Amino acid sequence: MTANRPATKILVDGGNPEETTRIKNLLGFLDGQTTNPTLVAKNPEVQQRIASGRKLTLEEHKDEYRRIVRKISPLVGPAGVSIEVFADFDTTAEDMLAQGKEMFSWIPNAYIKYPCVREGLRAAQISVESGIRVNMTLCFSQEQAAAVYAATKGSREPVYVSPFVGRLDDRGENGMELVENIKKMYQAGDGHVQVLAASLRRLEHLLYSFALGAELATVPAKILEQWASAGFPLPERSFHYQAVDSKGKALAPIAYKRIDLTAPWESFNLKHELTDKGIERFVQDYKSTLKSAA
Ligand code: E4P
Repeated sequence: MTANRPATKILVDGGNPEETTRIKNLLGFLDGQTTNPTLVAKNPEVQQRIASGRKLTLEEHKDEYRRIVRKISPLVGPAGVSIEVFADFDTTAEDMLAQGKEMFSWIPNAYIKYPCVREGLRAAQISVESGIRVNMTLCFSQEQAAAVYAATKGSREPVYVSPFVGRLDDRGENGMELVENIKKMYQAGDGHVQVLAASLRRLEHLLYSFALGAELATVPAKILEQWASAGFPLPERSFHYQAVDSKGKALAPIAYKRIDLTAPWESFNLKHELTDKGIERFVQDYKSTLKSAA
């Protein structure tokens, strides 16, 4: 049995090409893949190297990342493979851009992930002008998504924005409501930014992403296996999303804000605690694979 293909494109959220192959066989298709520094650090071959005391140099890390995405690239459809630049709080747009340019040349279907911070937005603006596809990651607010829209206006390629549902849920906020709010806000736009529901933790997150009409969803293999075991259901018209955490406690609502998408991107408040924490965690996981602190 293969999956009922939803309108939402399905990406696997991982860093292991063997898992990608397994999921593609399970579903009968796979639209794309997202990777990030944490997922690369969890790659079995990277793990094996570290366990045997052979941590990576910066150059070796890059080689490993390239090797991983080159294996994944031909396995997936047009939603492509998202590759994330290294970014800490000191990384400039120019530095991110230099990495993005190089990573974009690794495979023909790359999307470059930049964080939703000022320098990431600057890098994205220049990237889309030079035809580099982007996926704006660590998005936790409607303002950040508005800034993504404004900074990439005119892009010839679809731009992805990734609201992180599960990490909002983890702190008691209804992450799916952020997806819903961004979708609603973008109705006033020109459609150049596509919503990629990310950090999904439960099958209900996936089903509600379908129901909300998210253009894409990136999903851990485990959740896609649950979807398969349940017979690949698609949400009924009457689908009701239960906004509760893993213990059944109600999640706090995230209010919709009226935002003018035509405002300059620099005018939006880009600050979000979880974006900063997300950067810290990616830096930590990246450095955990390296010989010495880079
Ligand atoms: C998306 O591109 C990210 O890789 C991912 O969805 C993060 O999920 P997590 O919150 O489970 O780490």
